[in-house]
Amino acid sequence: MAAVVRYRFRPDLGMSLLGRLAGVALPKPGCPTGLRKCCLLHHRQLHESVIPRGRGGRSSFGGIVATVFGATGFLGRYVVGRLGHEGNQVIIPYRGDSYDTAHLQPMGDLGQLIFREWYAWDEDSIRNSVKNSNVVINLVGREWESNNFSYDDVFVKIPQNLARISKEEGVQRFIHMSHINADVGSPSPFLRAKGLGEQVVREAFPEAIILKPSDIYGQEDTFFNYFACLRLFGGVPLIKMGKDTSKKPVFIVDIAKAIVQSARDPNAPGQTYVLTGYNRYSLHEIVKFVYSVAHRPFIPYHLPTRLYMLWALCFEKFSVHRWTTRDKVNRMHISDLDFPGLPGLEDLGIKPSSIESKTIEVVRRHRIHRWLEEDVEEAQLPKIIVDESTT
Ligand SMILES: NC(=O)c1ccc[n+]([C@@H]2O[C@H](COP(=O)([O-])OP(=O)(O)OC[C@H]3O[C@@H](n4cnc5c(N)ncnc54)[C@H](OP(=O)(O)O)[C@@H]3O)[C@@H](O)[C@H]2O)c1
Repeated sequence: MAAVVRYRFRPDLGMSLLGRLAGVALPKPGCPTGLRKCCLLHHRQLHESVIPRGRGGRSSFGGIVATVFGATGFLGRYVVGRLGHEGNQVIIPYRGDSYDTAHLQPMGDLGQLIFREWYAWDEDSIRNSVKNSNVVINLVGREWESNNFSYDDVFVKIPQNLARISKEEGVQRFIHMSHINADVGSPSPFLRAKGLGEQVVREAFPEAIILKPSDIYGQEDTFFNYFACLRLFGGVPLIKMGKDTSKKPVFIVDIAKAIVQSARDPNAPGQTYVLTGYNRYSLHEIVKFVYSVAHRPFIPYHLPTRLYMLWALCFEKFSVHRWTTRDKVNRMHISDLDFPGLPGLEDLGIKPSSIESKTIEVVRRHRIHRWLEEDVEEAQLPKIIVDESTT
């Protein structure tokens, strides 16, 4: 990689960004321009193609070189799409077959998306993936435990390694994806591991940006789609009809925007953001609304917890993709916690979308042909438990 760097001092273009990008020590304001050049300490080789330029969008460069771990997942495609669309360079570590990344390949300009193989226990592959980046985003996750990776591996040890190695390699921002209900005392092993993951990431990378989203909905989600598919079991089994559980679902595009924004926001380092939709609804109301938009009959029934767990255990043991698990049933029936003191989407300049307007994008595929093009006006709107847009 050629190390051709032209330093042009344009205060209007944000010297500090160029400085941070180049890994240089900037002189104090007021220092005469002539002196400034002498003060630059060059730590990292930098190709001129990563110096911000253009008006944003393709064929310009946005100033971020980001490594996105877990880019092949649900959230990854939206994050890579947004970073690529703004003309940033994205390094995409992947495992398995390169065809798994085929959908990501057109998301950036030629040469701006770089694919690298990585293995979670191979430190060199992690180091190679992060060493040229100024931002590292950890989206690694799995809804179930596999024979090779436990929740502890995926949510504690892997994030800890990524954070530690990123720190050692001089990465400036580490963005870690957690969960709103992550808690070391949670009844769900998934959420307990997530809670511990937050702690180890903070220890390894104190300025890490931790994002705690509630359940995310979007076209490829495992939330609205999961409940819509439950109709195949003769109705929707819900513990206590879902009336004791309340959630604040958040739209996938808002989360992708928040991730990219937190890579830029000067106030973000060291913060923990809680990312939720505006309103709180009971699980019952959410699922009812999903069925209403899908023009499908909503037939909820109460399934006692033990029976529900037995049913989930069958999927856990006998299906390859573990569409549901005992832990997932548990998680789905845990209400979203409130964190009044922590910043949220609005603090990153993002207005949360409403489920009333976005659910159709997810659910249209569950409609029968007759209703495919029908408007959503007729759908029964969910009852809001707490309307935060009016408080
Ligand atoms: N979706 C939600 O509603 C939601 C809500 C709150 C928090 N989150 C968190 O947000 C993050 C991203 O969620 P998501 O829905 O995008 O997850 P996802 O669709 O399951 O994707 C997970 C990604 O992690 C990778 N991965 C999993 N285990 C790995 C391992 N052992 N080694 C290497 N890579 C591994 C997967 O790679 P492969 O494709 O190779 O398997 C995939 O790219 C997760 O941490 C999740 O817990 C999600």
